[in-house]
Amino acid sequence: MSKGTIMSGMRPTGKLHLGNYFGALENWVRLQNEYRSYHAIVDWHALTTAYEDTSELQDNIMEVALDWLSAGLDPNKCTIYIQSDVKEIAELFLLLSMVTPVSWLERCPTYKDQLKQLEGKNIANFGFLGYPCLQAADILIFKAQYVPVGEDQIPHLELSREIARRFNYLYGETLPEPEALLTEAKVLPGLDGRKMSKSYNNAIYLSDSEDEIRSKVSQMITDPQRITKTDPGNPDICSVYAFHKVFTELADLKETEEACRGGKVGCVACKKRMAENLVKFLEPIRTKRTELEANLDDVRDILDTGAKKAREEAKITVQEVREKMNLK
Ligand code: TRP
Repeated sequence: MSKGTIMSGMRPTGKLHLGNYFGALENWVRLQNEYRSYHAIVDWHALTTAYEDTSELQDNIMEVALDWLSAGLDPNKCTIYIQSDVKEIAELFLLLSMVTPVSWLERCPTYKDQLKQLEGKNIANFGFLGYPCLQAADILIFKAQYVPVGEDQIPHLELSREIARRFNYLYGETLPEPEALLTEAKVLPGLDGRKMSKSYNNAIYLSDSEDEIRSKVSQMITDPQRITKTDPGNPDICSVYAFHKVFTELADLKETEEACRGGKVGCVACKKRMAENLVKFLEPIRTKRTELEANLDDVRDILDTGAKKAREEAKITVQEVREKMNLK
């Protein structure tokens, strides 16, 4: 039974880490059983900020595809494709750009933010300004009702809704307004306690080897007040404990917390236990990845088949939009 259509995407910036997994992917894997799901590797969006050096783009696309499939996105249940393979999205983007006021794009908080954050990088481009309009095309082309994303994407989704509304107002009811599907994401800090992010160099990747995982966990920040293992610790401010909460079974979790507060377990031992649980959690994902890496042609086939399926749907919407605008 399908509850409707969802669409979501990720920019191909390289291998995915645990933050990406719990922020989005885990959700998508669950949702593919209930919704008609479209998932795009949005390479055009990646170009909006990284157009100067595109040498790693193809590798990055492949890494994302491998991570998605390893983590359980199933091409028999959902449609997985590379955005730029579905050229209809570019046509819809162009047509939607006609009804999108520049002021809406300029006042988008993510736009202003990024301009500030990526200072030094020249992103004062038309393509980057149009980022949310392109995202609207991604979503509206499948008439998706829901978009499973994190809170950071709310402004983009609001713009997608406004663009759809304006189109419908001008040319008649055509494009349903999509809604964000926010699900509570588990919060995992990075190794240094800040938000897990590739650019902070504090991430654990889905594809890390067992030894990499162990070594990274051993560097994690714990309660800084704790000098010796008999000092009582505070799990609430410990990154390792935040991980325990996700990867350790409830009974062991209680014991871990009490041992820490009581100064009965040292951070080294506590990290080791957690690392083994994390290794175990990621094991099936790693195994699947190794399998897929040996058959990259199969992965390419999955993406090609996905693009074909997506285009069939996309063509219908674009034709409808063209006709509404009195194009042939
Ligand atoms: N802007 C999204 C991000 O940075 C990526 C994205 C592009 C997207 N197109 C989309 C997300 C369509 C959901 C739906 O994460």
